[in-house]
Amino acid sequence: MSTLDETMVGTARDSETPVLELDDIGKSYGNVHALRGVNITVRQGEVTCVLGDNGAGKSTLIKIVAGLHDYTEGTMKVNGETRRFASPRAAQSIGIATVYQDLALAPLMSVWRNFFLANEIRKGPFLDIPTMKRVCGEELTKMGIVIPDLDRPVGGLSGGQRQCVAIARAIYFGARVVILDEPTAALGVKQSGVVLKYIVKARDAGLGVIFITHNPHHAYLVGNHFVILKLGRVVLDAHRDELTLEQLTAEMAGGQELAELSHELRAVDPGKVVTPHAVQHGGVDAPDINTGEIRAIEEI
Ligand SMILES: Nc1ncnc2c1ncn2[C@@H]1O[C@H](COP(=O)(O)OP(=O)(O)OP(=O)(O)O)[C@@H](O)[C@H]1O
Ligand SMILES: [Mg+2]
Repeated sequence: MSTLDETMVGTARDSETPVLELDDIGKSYGNVHALRGVNITVRQGEVTCVLGDNGAGKSTLIKIVAGLHDYTEGTMKVNGETRRFASPRAAQSIGIATVYQDLALAPLMSVWRNFFLANEIRKGPFLDIPTMKRVCGEELTKMGIVIPDLDRPVGGLSGGQRQCVAIARAIYFGARVVILDEPTAALGVKQSGVVLKYIVKARDAGLGVIFITHNPHHAYLVGNHFVILKLGRVVLDAHRDELTLEQLTAEMAGGQELAELSHELRAVDPGKVVTPHAVQHGGVDAPDINTGEIRAIEEI
């Protein structure tokens, strides 16, 4: 058993120790407090969804866990041991894999080359290309990912397929925590569905999955545990059995803020249908031809 297996598998699987614990984590960039007092627990075999609006601190959180940035307050534990990563490589070496939305793979390289990037199999001094192609094909098939030509550059795959290859790679190389940074943000409905399916597969493979998203519907389809960040603080931390999709959506929209917005929108009569007939015949908002209002609009 390798060092990685001893440190990661031995303790987490056999006991209830969370694979990742953030305890009162804070991060300042000069005067900007991007995160304050953040407590999050990630367990293996669960999908932890981290939701939040723009500027909530989601990316900052990922960067800390992925070893890109250091934290300025609190403690981070991996398998019960306090950790501070000096680099992304240090995080990867103890089994934390990050799938960034755009940087997941090198677009000009083939699928199999990407799969083994930085972990190439060698036969003496040479790359063992046949073995790498075979293993890559087998691993993708195991995940149910069908890519007919593994020599094809990854840039030619759909966004969803690329995410799936990156997830399969993380699982194959022994990741215990996989962080997905808004993997469905740029995808259509069908492709999002495919990526969500592989998020579930990663969970079923026993990984602790951290799924960062703006979308409560996507989160609720796969999540076991939900954390909402707002202006750098945790405003909700709940398990699936403690909250409905409606509650999650309302919390994401900001509870009170949503109530105020809905009050405001009610005043402008939502659902009102404005018929062209009404407008042409001097409906409420119809521009007045005689006053030159139409010309004024066209000039704008
Ligand atoms: N390198 C940096 N230097 C200074 N401030 C930063 C830096 N990175 C992030 N911030 C600030 O920290 C706060 C949180 O930013 P972060 O990027 O983590 O939010 P986010 O939740 O990922 O938002 P988005 O959904 O827009 O990606 C913001 O106020 C942001 O301006
Ligand atoms: Mg971000």
